[in-house]
Amino acid sequence: MCGIVGYIGENKAQEVILSGLQKLEYRGYDSAGIALLENGEITVTRAQGKLEELKKKFTNTKSKASLGIGHTRWATHGRPSETNAHPHSAGRVSLIHNGIIENYLELKEELEKLGCEFKSETDTEIAAHLLNQEIKNGLEPFEALKATCKKVRGSYAFLAIDKENPDRILVAKNSTPIVIGFSENQKFIASDIPAILNYTKEVLILEDGDIAEIMLDSIKVENDGVLVTRKTQTINWDPVTAQKGGYKHFMLKEIYDQVEASVDTVRGRIKNSKVVFSNIDFSVEEAKSIDRIIMIACGTAWHACLVAKYYFETLAGIPCEVDYSSEFRYRDKPVSKNTLLIPVSQSGETLDTLAATESISKLVKTLAICNVLGSSLSRKVENVIYTQAGPEISVASTKAFTTQLEALYMFALFLGQERGILNKSTIHEKVNAVIKLPAAIAEALKDEEAIKKTAKLFYQSQDFFYIGRGICFPIALEGALKLKEISYIHAEGYPAGELKHGPLALIDEDVPVVVILQKSDVLFEKTLSNLKEVEARGGKIIAITDSPKIDLISSVASVVHSVPFISGDLSPILMTVPLQLLAYYIAVFNGTDVDLPRNLAKSVTVE
Ligand code: F6R
Repeated sequence: MCGIVGYIGENKAQEVILSGLQKLEYRGYDSAGIALLENGEITVTRAQGKLEELKKKFTNTKSKASLGIGHTRWATHGRPSETNAHPHSAGRVSLIHNGIIENYLELKEELEKLGCEFKSETDTEIAAHLLNQEIKNGLEPFEALKATCKKVRGSYAFLAIDKENPDRILVAKNSTPIVIGFSENQKFIASDIPAILNYTKEVLILEDGDIAEIMLDSIKVENDGVLVTRKTQTINWDPVTAQKGGYKHFMLKEIYDQVEASVDTVRGRIKNSKVVFSNIDFSVEEAKSIDRIIMIACGTAWHACLVAKYYFETLAGIPCEVDYSSEFRYRDKPVSKNTLLIPVSQSGETLDTLAATESISKLVKTLAICNVLGSSLSRKVENVIYTQAGPEISVASTKAFTTQLEALYMFALFLGQERGILNKSTIHEKVNAVIKLPAAIAEALKDEEAIKKTAKLFYQSQDFFYIGRGICFPIALEGALKLKEISYIHAEGYPAGELKHGPLALIDEDVPVVVILQKSDVLFEKTLSNLKEVEARGGKIIAITDSPKIDLISSVASVVHSVPFISGDLSPILMTVPLQLLAYYIAVFNGTDVDLPRNLAKSVTVE
């Protein structure tokens, strides 16, 4: 996950920026760079590898510049290399960027026609050229950045400097966080508060669509062409809270991280409305030859596989089975060389998943979905698709799960595309929905306070049922798992249609039923009739839905929480968010150790 730090002030920009980037190291990165503006000239220094490599380049040149921008990059779009590291420069400007520019190939073509030449493989360099062109066309830098953002589709946080205007840093934000810190005679800009906490506790947080011009004595922010004032806040975090990004628990932080993690997981994987996986070795012939997929995993990752089964069968037309790693490793399995084994694991160190993979890896094709670069699993398979969730500290998995779903969805789209099952316009429509995901997750998170109130109503219940149908049945399992592992309350996930085959006997007024109710017509009606069965037994219903039929749902449910609808395929991701928050607050009200629940470990390296 990339990091951003910018500085204007009385101290040496180089030192402030390097120390800020150091505070963001925990996010993971593979290269770094700084642009410093001094005496009307911009000097860009970049290095592959750790910040130490970048620092070495400054050993003999201590800059006195009082303005600069710096970046740590985690490669997803173009290899990790010095050339691909940010800042990128074009003409008068240098720019850094977190996010994805979805239409970068179209923009690149237009810019090439104007004679622009590109040195890197990144989408960021396109933004630098666009900005430079707008300035060349006569716009003031601030107006030029506004014009640039109008042309760019995707998510971004941009910081840009212009050598002709050495007194300002330009900033734009859309779906990727940016905070501005200030103290007397200094301004700081960062992707995360911990980067600037050593210098100031006074901050303002930019909102989506904001374009800002930061000068030593002023902060100008516009949104949609209108001047706006963003509220200032004082951050009183101790060092541990700072590590948690100001949240009380890592779990809550990681639930919020999902907005950015979903941007990062898709970054570099959509080009010209097509799905591309440049880091895997998977030819069209290979995609066409697969006649069966076997997915293996444990716990939350296993739930991701259950959702992905729908993706592979529907979008790629490949029969798919899902097994627990701990079961799969000990059973006989007839496979062929056209079988694709997909182990899924956040840590890449889960012993059962490693052993299950090894049990057939020589006989089949293998591709892992994993969050940790260089993990044992990544070394046991032919190909890896990394989720870009960043480090997950809380034992209960949150952002790893939603990014697994996203990565698996993208891979199913890729297979459907390469096998000729999905046509161009379907792919276009589906990848556009994926691009809307970060903003939709951010929208779903806005229900936090209401979910906290629901948790307060139900936290003393001793048993919960979670029900769902179709693609959201695994989400019921995941919601129940989240609740039981952190609150120690008994919770069971069931397909809604199965209740009457036994579990209905357990339903009474003391057993809340959480239902995941999708907009999809057929399943909506069917699930609603299952809810009537619950209501008739006095069960209290908590509905999570992306359907607009709130009145109808409220006629049976005690509480309804809505999430945005972007597509039926992506509903499982959005429906997960309120379930995570519900489990989190029920655990908080019960006073459990949310991040380190009893008897559990983050990485299960024993059998
Ligand atoms: C639940 C949870 C576990 C893990 C499982 C697999 O919140 O975190 O169920 O999902 O232990 O771990 P990985 O994905 O690291 O293989």
